[in-house]
Amino acid sequence: MASITIRQLDEGLKRRLRLRAARNGRSMEDEARTILRHAASLDERIEPGGTPETRAPHTARRGSSATAHALGPAAEHADAARTKRILLIIGGGIAAYKALDLIRRLKERELAVRCILTKAAQEFITPLSAAALSGERAFTDLFDPQTEFDIGHIRLAREADLIVLAPATADLIAKLAGGHADDLASAVLLATDRPVLVAPAMNPRMWEHKATRRNLVQLIADGVAVVGPNSGEMAEASEAGIGRMAEPLEIVAAVLSLIGRAAGEGALAGKRVIVTSGPTHEPIDPVRYIANRSSGKQGHSLAAAAAAAGAEVTLVSGPVHLPDPPGVKIIKVASAQDMLAAVMNALPADVAVFAAAVADWRPAKAQLNKIKKGPGGAPKLALTENPDILATVAHNTKRRPHLVIGFAAETDHIIEHAKAKLARKGCDWILANDVSAESGVMGGDRNTVHLVTAQGVESWPPQSKEDVARGLVARIAETLAGAKR
Ligand code: C5P
Repeated sequence: MASITIRQLDEGLKRRLRLRAARNGRSMEDEARTILRHAASLDERIEPGGTPETRAPHTARRGSSATAHALGPAAEHADAARTKRILLIIGGGIAAYKALDLIRRLKERELAVRCILTKAAQEFITPLSAAALSGERAFTDLFDPQTEFDIGHIRLAREADLIVLAPATADLIAKLAGGHADDLASAVLLATDRPVLVAPAMNPRMWEHKATRRNLVQLIADGVAVVGPNSGEMAEASEAGIGRMAEPLEIVAAVLSLIGRAAGEGALAGKRVIVTSGPTHEPIDPVRYIANRSSGKQGHSLAAAAAAAGAEVTLVSGPVHLPDPPGVKIIKVASAQDMLAAVMNALPADVAVFAAAVADWRPAKAQLNKIKKGPGGAPKLALTENPDILATVAHNTKRRPHLVIGFAAETDHIIEHAKAKLARKGCDWILANDVSAESGVMGGDRNTVHLVTAQGVESWPPQSKEDVARGLVARIAETLAGAKR
């Protein structure tokens, strides 16, 4: 029997196979077997003389359950394995209208969406609109004989991969924190063991109320993820402050990151991305240097996520103890000056993400020989400022990437400092994170970031650095697709 050797495939095909395999968590061999099995199952359904295109034109679209149905049990099984189910609980607030857009955005990403509307939600939107947009019946009552017989609250809770509560009113948040179960929404939330994402939306005073703060602390302690709320104008005239529900695309980014499917294969195909990562080492003499505690985990995860989404990635990395991410071109440097030169050399690019913790200062003159201890006491280190790589690239009028993204590692006043940095450095987005010793971010595996843009601030739920990377790559892909920053 003939055998196929992956090594002999052409480079382009190998690369695509590698990305696909990485995305699906399989070895390349397993991925190739899966593709063959799927192709064979298509073939079985084609009558003699037919072609997949003529007999099953809809196979081009992934994740459509109509397609899976038409293809029979094997494909249906594959489809079920791929399609993630989101149970969207719509609370009663003016932001409920945004939940309708959210359904569309989730469906565009080939997610199955099922909706529950609370009684209050039905004052703002109808179950019919939610059903029409989701393509599934929308549920409203805990004691609905038809529902309980057909699909009760336990099944609704269990059949979801993720439950999204949007808009999450102060009342729904309180019910969730208190473990109530007196309507369908709260009963489902109590009956589930699936991850839950809440998108709070309420009047700023309700948001700031001690009871809401307490409930939110409880939810976070219970492992519930939170997206938003944002600050800005409220629906009520002359009200402003924190309380606006996160925008549908922000919620989508959080959803994708929580279900581990941030940016699909090919989302950044044809795009060039530069990522800086790790610390820099600024030589004092041949054996000593100034450095910081950056591990490079966030930058390396970003490079890997961008490559997995099909981008051509150049990773400019300072000294780290991490394996090289697969599928990226890596340029290893030591000092900030070397990093700047490598980045300028890697231009042009569509996107540049500056995740490196570049040393702000370097010894003004690195000694050629090791500095010796002597009777004169400790040597005086004269420092000079390093070039700001992010600002240099962001202000480069000729070769500025479309999207320039920086990080802001802060120990206090995180958002204020990040906003100031956004303006000062001339970049498009800043991901601000708390690197105080208590946060454990420096060198740790998790990160809590706030995405600061000219449009406002999004606070992402605490998550792994890989998930932050996938979430950011998804946002980048969406932004480039919409061709705005
Ligand atoms: O000014 P600060 O160091 O807090 O800015 C952080 C952001 O700027 C990060 O994105 C970092 O990679 C970038 N940066 C840089 N070159 C420097 C200092 C910081 O690219 N010399």
